[in-house]
Amino acid sequence: METAAQEVQRITRFEDTPEYRHFAARKQALLSDTDNPYFIAHDSPLTDKSFMDGQWVLNFGSYNYAGMSGRQEVSEAAIDAIRRYGTSASGSRLLAGEKTLDRELERAIAQWKHTEDALVLVGGHSTNVTFVGNFCHDGDLILYDALIHNSVAEGCRLAHATARPFPHNDWEALERILERRRDKFAKVLICVEGVYSMDGDISPVPEFVRIKKRYGCFLMVDEAHSTCVIGETGGGVDEYFGLAPEDIDIKMGTLSKGLGACGGYLAGSASLIEYLRYSLPGFVFSVGISPALAAATLCAVQLMQTDPSIMENLRRNVACFAQEARKRRLDIGLAGKTAILPVLVGPDADAWALSNHLRHRGVFVPPAVYPAVPKDQARLRFCVTAAHRPEQIVEALNKLEETACELGIALPRIPE
Ligand SMILES: Cc1ncc(COP(=O)(O)O)c(C=O)c1O
Repeated sequence: METAAQEVQRITRFEDTPEYRHFAARKQALLSDTDNPYFIAHDSPLTDKSFMDGQWVLNFGSYNYAGMSGRQEVSEAAIDAIRRYGTSASGSRLLAGEKTLDRELERAIAQWKHTEDALVLVGGHSTNVTFVGNFCHDGDLILYDALIHNSVAEGCRLAHATARPFPHNDWEALERILERRRDKFAKVLICVEGVYSMDGDISPVPEFVRIKKRYGCFLMVDEAHSTCVIGETGGGVDEYFGLAPEDIDIKMGTLSKGLGACGGYLAGSASLIEYLRYSLPGFVFSVGISPALAAATLCAVQLMQTDPSIMENLRRNVACFAQEARKRRLDIGLAGKTAILPVLVGPDADAWALSNHLRHRGVFVPPAVYPAVPKDQARLRFCVTAAHRPEQIVEALNKLEETACELGIALPRIPE
């Protein structure tokens, strides 16, 4: 909107913008240049340990849940693909053409996710932005969990549709909205995550399936943190809850986390995926994933279904962390069944201090602070992977207790 000329102050240097000033003030108040817990350089794969500042530290900060990134078979699949195809897809698959490998990967994902077809895109975040941003139009409604990832929220901003949050996991509240408003809209898209990334809790997906059927809606589940984490073969929410193949309309996932590569996928009915293949802007107008990443992901999907030790180890580590945390009466909130196990700290400054001190003592765990989590509910976001060993988990929690004690930080405790 145009504003009257005399009211407008020209800004010609980025440093004078309100957004930069706000950022700079917050950074100066909260982060020191010498001990910043962000952008830590890890000069190794991110498995149970990683190499930083000239030493190996225990790593509890990666989403490499199944230990695929750094696993020999996966790296070799990527190297073979580079030798055969080079490093880039070099253009949109629609126009520039694709590799046989691209379709092989999509068929493998579809089979694993019990859908008719799947589409692979270059980024997990951009997959959500482009799908949510283009699936709904004027006269449609998007209802999303209040804790939904930023990528879905950005998609809602892009879509020419009405978009409303409902309280976290509160399917009863969702149902009340639909009772009142379903008939006012043509399509309704319900967006939830399989496992939530700040709390590590599993979404009550069967309730959402029931509701979407009752009110005639489309259900999209973002499985960034549920594929390779829950379900017998790490197949995600449908495998975990024993859902029918068609219960979820759009199964979205990332290739960057459990699958150890980079990219995103959308899995669903043949007609939906065919439509998206020819019309989704983030696919049609963007490059395909690199052959190395396609080959690595294909290898990872196959390993998930053929090597039961991956999920056995991950389940053992999740159970071990939850048990050790409870033994110490640390507050892990709703977590305990998935690979994300946040330990509640409280004030942002305490979470930063603990993260920095733990790193110097050989344990890497990133802080999650406001606005990613509610004010005064900062936490240390431990992620376990299949590659960890139980004694590493015990060591990390012991060091957390010692460090908190030395810094005079009273960690919140759950009642006995
Ligand atoms: C729930 C969720 N969806 C989507 C994404 C985006 O995925 P990517 O990091 O692979 O782009 C993330 C990333 O953290 C996520 O947590």
